[in-house]
Amino acid sequence: MQSSSQIQPSGFAADVLTGLSAEPKFLSSKYFYDDEGSRLFQQIMELPEYYLTRAEFEIFQTQTKEIFAAFGETNKSFDLIELGAGDGTKTAVLIDYFLQQTTDFTYTPIDISQEAIDSLTAKFKAEFPRLLMTPKTGDYFRILQTLKTATGKRKIILFLGSNVGNFNREQAVAFFRNLRGVMNDRDLLFVGFDLQKDPHVILNAYDDAQGVTAQFNLNLLARINRELSADFDLQKFSHYAVYRPTECAARSFLISLERQTVHIKTLDKSFDFKAWEPIFMEISQKYNLEMIEDLAQASGFQTAKNFFDSQNYFADSLWKVSL
Ligand code: AVI
Repeated sequence: MQSSSQIQPSGFAADVLTGLSAEPKFLSSKYFYDDEGSRLFQQIMELPEYYLTRAEFEIFQTQTKEIFAAFGETNKSFDLIELGAGDGTKTAVLIDYFLQQTTDFTYTPIDISQEAIDSLTAKFKAEFPRLLMTPKTGDYFRILQTLKTATGKRKIILFLGSNVGNFNREQAVAFFRNLRGVMNDRDLLFVGFDLQKDPHVILNAYDDAQGVTAQFNLNLLARINRELSADFDLQKFSHYAVYRPTECAARSFLISLERQTVHIKTLDKSFDFKAWEPIFMEISQKYNLEMIEDLAQASGFQTAKNFFDSQNYFADSLWKVSL
């Protein structure tokens, strides 16, 4: 018989164990988005330094008609599926216009945070009473599997806001190949990419003056405290962001300010930190057009059209499946 101490941790606990046992230590940024993390990310999107959301919003506001036209065949019913929907502010611009053209589509927002999905659903129900919605909460990697057997209508999948930037190349290719596997020939994928630009502009977006990004990172340690009964002292870690132009990637770390030991009760394990030891928290990859094209091809897609904001800070790229 197996004793409780032999039971292997799974999910969040297992990933924390793997990351904090590694050299160098890391934690996965996919765990940033509990309800508190989602609230902090909402604040980040309003920061003066965080240009990404405004740039993509500008694309949606100024090119709504062109985007709708590029989606094509919109005279027939379709499913608009949004992965990592958040508060849906940008998507609202598209939906508002789409509803003026047709009501024959269903909007399926998917987000890991129940709170985010609840507030988006309430907001959209009030704002768009005619909109057909089937919101879903959970890990979109898992929900993707259920899309395979969904309505049979043409799917237009939105993956906006530079969410792809939080994957390294290998993860991005695996993710898009996975998506390709649940898509039919006429389905489309609309992906938001943050573009390369002045490195100072990029670095500031991940190192804001008010320290919201620092809180956003530290919240993952607080989440480990809350959910895995750990004793991280948040005062003893500080946020550090870098942008490496040679790799076109911003990375964030939490740095241990002193030698310390942290105990995680659920794992029944202690972790030692040296003074100034980093925990790698997040990558935010920046792209150029060649990289976008290359990623599409490597994942079984072809770029149909790219949409840019007036500063060329951001691109929304429409992909069709390669046949
Ligand atoms: C969600 N994702 C696209 C954000 C980004 O820009 O990489 C997450 C974030 N991390 C720090 N600030 C924002």
